[in-house]
Amino acid sequence: MTSRKTYILGIESSCDDTSAAVLCNKKVLSNVVATQDIHRQYGGVVPELASRAHQQNIVPVVHQALAKANIDKKDLSAIAFTKGPGLMGSLLVGTSFAKSLALGLDIPLIAVNHMEAHILAHFIEDDENNREPSFPFLAMTISGGHTQIVLVKDFFDMEILGETLDDAVGEAFDKSAKLMGLPYPGGPLVDKHAQQGNSAAFNFPKPKVEGLNFSFSGLKTSILYFLQRETKKNPDFVAENIDDICASVQNTILDILMDKLQLAVQQTGINEIAIGGGVAANSGIRTRLKEAEEQLGLHTYIPKFQYCTDNAAMIGITGYLKYRKGQFSNQSVAAKARFAIGS
Ligand code: KG4
Ligand code: ZN
Repeated sequence: MTSRKTYILGIESSCDDTSAAVLCNKKVLSNVVATQDIHRQYGGVVPELASRAHQQNIVPVVHQALAKANIDKKDLSAIAFTKGPGLMGSLLVGTSFAKSLALGLDIPLIAVNHMEAHILAHFIEDDENNREPSFPFLAMTISGGHTQIVLVKDFFDMEILGETLDDAVGEAFDKSAKLMGLPYPGGPLVDKHAQQGNSAAFNFPKPKVEGLNFSFSGLKTSILYFLQRETKKNPDFVAENIDDICASVQNTILDILMDKLQLAVQQTGINEIAIGGGVAANSGIRTRLKEAEEQLGLHTYIPKFQYCTDNAAMIGITGYLKYRKGQFSNQSVAAKARFAIGS
């Protein structure tokens, strides 16, 4: 192997985080994320506002990423950007910016699939944690926008085994939280209350979905009916029982995830499990995975939190892995709102 240093600028703008990162080979030199707080007051991401905020953020975020990495843009080897999937208006900002900068600097342009990047974030080299999953492994990506179980045979040889048919798991957390009057994004708050509650206090039905696919919209409806019924009897029901409700809701969501994960392990015989996405921050899922390690002999991997949520470092590492293979795009590349893994 050569000891050549490759500097990749990664750019992520698929949803509501504008992010830029600089990597030297597999190491992250900087990873700047501008989170758009504007969406909080609307209880969810407003696409038009997201595009406008990306437009405002992209130049300062890239400047900061280069400055923090102490790298001049002339030293960059290539630019990697999120081509999709995501919100079209948001993707267009990062895509156009990356194309222009690559053209201006006359360096290669690398299109990255956001879902592949969530998985390949596991290959970021970190001084504190150098464990990485070995092929083949199962990746479960759980966030506000995605819920997938993917069979990863090699860096760019992946097959989706199951995915959500409706809401993403993060949405299930956020929508349940909203029904309880908690602010957006409610996932971390549900987690916080759940830690003080009794997870067996209330029962919610689990959906019956074939194979490795998921569904969360039914759960949301049953929580809605449950809360309506109980608050009719006692208007203070939610306030008086918030910890127990959160613990029970979280428990149901985690049961759904863990049941499918266990099924995937049974079906494939693979026990290397890589978790990614914002919901990987949930304290309950971490406990469940630990239990599964001990009881089922699984090896589980969770990247640092900053590489789990939407970030440009994961785009940078994917860009680096593609750079090594010479997988470049030309200037005719276009953003794709729907963009399946492996397509
Ligand atoms: O990966 P991410 O930052 O953005 C998306 O691509 O969606 O994930 C955000 C999602 C939100 O739905 C948020 O509520 C959820 O991750 N989340 C959590 C926790 N922290 C973040 N859900 C449950 N427990 C948590 N501790
Ligand atoms: Zn994401």
